[in-house]
Amino acid sequence: MGQKYLITSALPYVNNNLHIGHLIGCLLPSDVYARFCRAQGRDVLYIGGADEHGTPSEVGALKENIPVEEYVDKYRAKHLDAVRDFKLSFDLYGRTHTKLHEKLIHELFNRLDSLGMIEEKSSMQPYSVNEKKFLADRYVIGTCPKCGYDHAYGNECDKCGTSLDPDQLINPHSAIDPSSPVEMRETKHLYFKLSAVQDKLRAWIDSRQNWPKTAITIANKWLDEGLHDNPITRDLKWGIPVNKPGFEDKVFYVWFDAPWGYVSISQAATDDWASWWKNPDCYYTQFMAKDNVSFHSVFFPAQELAMNDNWKTVDMLKGQNFMNFNGAKISKSTGNGIFLDEALNIAPSDCWRYALMASAPETDDTDFTMERFAEIVNKDLNGMLGNFVSRVCKLSAKNFGDTVPDGNGIDKDLEIKINEKLSDLTNALEKCEFRDAVFALRSLWAIANEYMTIKEPWALVKNGDMAGAAAALNECFQMIDFFARVSAPFIPDAAEKIQNIFENKHDLSWPTKYEHRLGNSEKFTVPENLFNRIELTEKTNG
Ligand code: 2FM
Ligand code: ZN
Repeated sequence: MGQKYLITSALPYVNNNLHIGHLIGCLLPSDVYARFCRAQGRDVLYIGGADEHGTPSEVGALKENIPVEEYVDKYRAKHLDAVRDFKLSFDLYGRTHTKLHEKLIHELFNRLDSLGMIEEKSSMQPYSVNEKKFLADRYVIGTCPKCGYDHAYGNECDKCGTSLDPDQLINPHSAIDPSSPVEMRETKHLYFKLSAVQDKLRAWIDSRQNWPKTAITIANKWLDEGLHDNPITRDLKWGIPVNKPGFEDKVFYVWFDAPWGYVSISQAATDDWASWWKNPDCYYTQFMAKDNVSFHSVFFPAQELAMNDNWKTVDMLKGQNFMNFNGAKISKSTGNGIFLDEALNIAPSDCWRYALMASAPETDDTDFTMERFAEIVNKDLNGMLGNFVSRVCKLSAKNFGDTVPDGNGIDKDLEIKINEKLSDLTNALEKCEFRDAVFALRSLWAIANEYMTIKEPWALVKNGDMAGAAAALNECFQMIDFFARVSAPFIPDAAEKIQNIFENKHDLSWPTKYEHRLGNSEKFTVPENLFNRIELTEKTNG
């Protein structure tokens, strides 16, 4: 059995309308990486899906006055539209509200329990008197004891920034039903003995070679502060019911539930799931935004290690910083940002895929604007790649008809230059350094444009040097074929259009070097423009 590649993209909550922040946070980088791996012939399992549980779904359904099941179906359908529209090549974009998932969580819980890793403890929790239920801290509203703001949450005051406990609020009431007072009542919960995994987790973190520094720092901060046992059950109705007598009216906490969705969705995707999840010779890469890093670097692996059951843990953890839009946070409530159902009215998916990857918030939070978007599309996609393809095809068709003109072997200087950038591109993608990867890809397109400028095949034609013009154009066509291969992970639609230029359909495998694959006299057709310029209007200006 050769090496396997497992790739997961964080499961977005289903109550959210997906926006460009979700695309760049995990969906796109994971897809580009998965496509890159597959193009090399690797055995990939690429998994994503909707995180359907947690209070937000329950509250969202209440607000829309529909059953939770209907609510999650409605929003999950929107996720699936985005997966289709943005060409995200998941083996399965699944969900967590399934029988398979419930069965898995129950088995995992039983195992932890039988290993003595579960403890029962009582604690005081906010209870909504009229609604007759316990509330998560952030669903309690009251007056801030520090600044007097009357709309502070049970976990923090938005006005003065103080972090709070719900029992500190003056006049606490429910955020869901403001007429209902809230009082602290005793409730019992099941705790995962996270502290018992501290040493094992430390050794495991120390053995992570490929993680970006920020992820290591976050994990070590948790370890340095000392891990505390944490409750994995909640007093909610919506979620995976707890399979232990005395806890039937509770559900599992979403962070004991969601990450295992990667496994249950893999189980739904293939009967062969264990050959990724239980295989030491599998390389596992996770993609997420930075607010998820602690859960994936501490809580999830701690659970996996505690199971002592050979679960595959993450080898490469890619966490992105946040992308803002027009200088402010992307948010459904303020309407700031580009939401995925409207993005395609502005430009086709390849443009978003490329421009967002070129702006990936890898080292810092990044600001995205429509001006930036238009500039990247116009300069790189339209100006460099699109124009090159179009000029070569048109000039050639005009002077040599509908077959690729005869060449006379690879241009050695060009070959060296291209191979250098190809190696940069391959290495960057291998390490999931996406900004560097885009830079290398753009450099390849630049090399082609420069070649054309220096060779001036139109001038050769004009001067009657038809053999020289043919050779130059042949080289350009070979680069076009090469570009389809190296661009495909980023802009799959354009790559397919380029592939279809030639009558012989050449595969889009990842090249190990620049090579001539087009035979002399291979038929081609002049394609439609691959890209169109983006002209900003008031409507598209964000
Ligand atoms: O932050 C979020 O959107 C969570 N739903 C991410 C879960 S990732 C994984 F654990 F499933
Ligand atoms: Zn305050």
